[in-house]
Amino acid sequence: MGKVYLLGAGPGDPDLLTIKALRILQSADVVLYDRLVSPEILALANPHALLIHTGKRHGQQEEIQNEINSLMLEHASQDKTVVRLKSGDPLVFGRGAEEWALLQAHGIQVELVPGISSAISVPALAGIPLTCRGIASSFAVITGHNQKSETPDWMKFRGVDTLVILMGVENRVRIATELIALGRPASEPVAFIERGSTDRERVVISTLAEVSRGQVDVVSPAVCVVGEVVRLRSQLCANTVEEQGVLIAR
Ligand SMILES: C[S@@+](CC[C@H](N)C(=O)[O-])C[C@H]1O[C@@H](n2cnc3c(N)ncnc32)[C@H](O)[C@@H]1O
Repeated sequence: MGKVYLLGAGPGDPDLLTIKALRILQSADVVLYDRLVSPEILALANPHALLIHTGKRHGQQEEIQNEINSLMLEHASQDKTVVRLKSGDPLVFGRGAEEWALLQAHGIQVELVPGISSAISVPALAGIPLTCRGIASSFAVITGHNQKSETPDWMKFRGVDTLVILMGVENRVRIATELIALGRPASEPVAFIERGSTDRERVVISTLAEVSRGQVDVVSPAVCVVGEVVRLRSQLCANTVEEQGVLIAR
């Protein structure tokens, strides 16, 4: 019986792969990869490996998930080393736990290789720390849509300083409107970071009010950050000592 590695590819930049992930990728027989895994990372896989794209299309999630499950079982039962390659960390909104449980139920050996999640790394690379002494002492990572296409219960996150929203681009107007209705200031800063860590990265800084009015153009995939920490970007990414000094002098 083969083995399946549930392997995190990180946010996109191949330099952010772990050494363990690289080593396993280079010895894989089969790599089943998701839509967000970058071509640069795939290029690092064993040149003889069979690469299978498993990207999910809207409305066909369950059908495609069943295909992925069958492919993992089929190749693992042929004594192969199978890598199930997911963007970021495999257990952060990636159905990694479900796949792990399924493989285990079929008696297949599974090893998890954590990856650097986009939830933390993408804001950090854009100069937005999720916590900062005196500004934010808590953060939550939330999905912007769930399987029934409903937005989450935002009430649960009312007291959280920084909200990190994945898969929130499509529902951004609704999300911002609900957050304002729950009492977050309309002037609260919001950042969208598209394609973080890649050379196609784009950062859009706005406010909840503007997002709720549909005035902010963003393209998926993007990480959305809501909170005062967004203002730190202008200091951390500043070019002059005077601008940087604001944070240091606090
Ligand atoms: C299905 S979730 C997977 C999250 C992944 N497991 C992780 O830990 O980063 C996909 C969402 O992650 C975010 N995402 C992943 N990689 C990203 C990147 N390089 N730049 C911006 N957003 C990214 C986007 O919000 C995207 O819609």
